[in-house]
This record gives sequence, C-alpha cells and structure tokens, in this order.
Amino acid sequence: MKISKKVEEAINKQINAEIYSAYLYLGMSARFTELNLKGMANWLYVQAQEEMTHAMKFYRFNLERGGHAKLPAIEGVRDDWKTPLEMFEAAYEHEQKVSAMINNIVDIALAERDHASASMLTWFVDEQVEEEANASEIADKLKLIGESKEGLFMLDKELSTRVFVDSTLPAGGAQA
Ligand code: FEO
Repeated sequence: MKISKKVEEAINKQINAEIYSAYLYLGMSARFTELNLKGMANWLYVQAQEEMTHAMKFYRFNLERGGHAKLPAIEGVRDDWKTPLEMFEAAYEHEQKVSAMINNIVDIALAERDHASASMLTWFVDEQVEEEANASEIADKLKLIGESKEGLFMLDKELSTRVFVDSTLPAGGAQA
C-alpha cells in the first residue's frame, strides 16, 4: 500500500523540521565554540548529526512507500545566544515542539489507516522521550550550577565525551 498523501505531506514537513533542528543545534554549537565551551559545542555538534539521521530516516521511508519528496527552504537560525542555559532551555522547548509534530503525524497516519507509517513512527515517539530528557537534564544541571565556573567546567568536560552513533540504522549498519 502506497503512503497516504496526507502522511506524505506531514513527513515532508517533518524532514524540513529535522533539518532545521540540525541547523539550530549547529548554530548553538558554533556559539559554544566561540564561548570556549568545547564540550557543549561537541554535544550539540553530535546532536546536529543525529538530527540529520532523523531527517534521512523520514526521507528514505517516504520514497520507499512511493511518496513524493517536496523539500522547501530551511529557515535560518539565531546566532546571538547569550548563555548556556538559554541555549539548552531553547533546545528543550524545541524538542517538545518536535514531539508534538510527531504525535500529530501519528494521529494523521491512524486516521488514514496507514498502519505502516504509524508503525515506523513509533520509533520517533520513543526517540523523542530521550530527546526531551537529554535537553531538559542539561538545562536542569545548568540551573543547579548557577554562577559556578567550576560546575560549568565539569559539565563541559562531561559533554565532551559524546560521540555520534547513527541510531536509525540496525545493528548491522544497513540502511533502515
Ligand atoms: Fe529529531 Fe531532536 O528530534
């Protein structure tokens, strides 16, 4: 069964939103590099890479189901972030928006009786739980740290260890 037209449209919008997420986090990563917080820069750089894999998973799925790809312009992102907390709070807020968008696609897929899409989307529903938790945990830590330079240094060190893993691929590494 070919993908439902309404689901196809929603997935095309989601591809845009995921690439925008990558762009947003890349912009934040650059700002952290300017602030000399290399661990936070690393964490967001890895996050930007992860967002691209989300976009690609939607992209591949749409084409595999006989959908048409419509890829509009990606919106620009701000470059005037002042503090680490401001950035991670914005990241958390953004992830909540992404979760709402994904839930909306699930609703559309179920209404269209497009169960193949609904099934694929459960991966994203689960992923969003992690995405929200990660951003909110860092924002909470930054709130606890407050003005402590030492605390900020420790957190920055912790975030420097994150490495990119493409979790959209099965263990064998083949495209899903
Ligand atoms: Fe692709 Fe951060 O959600």
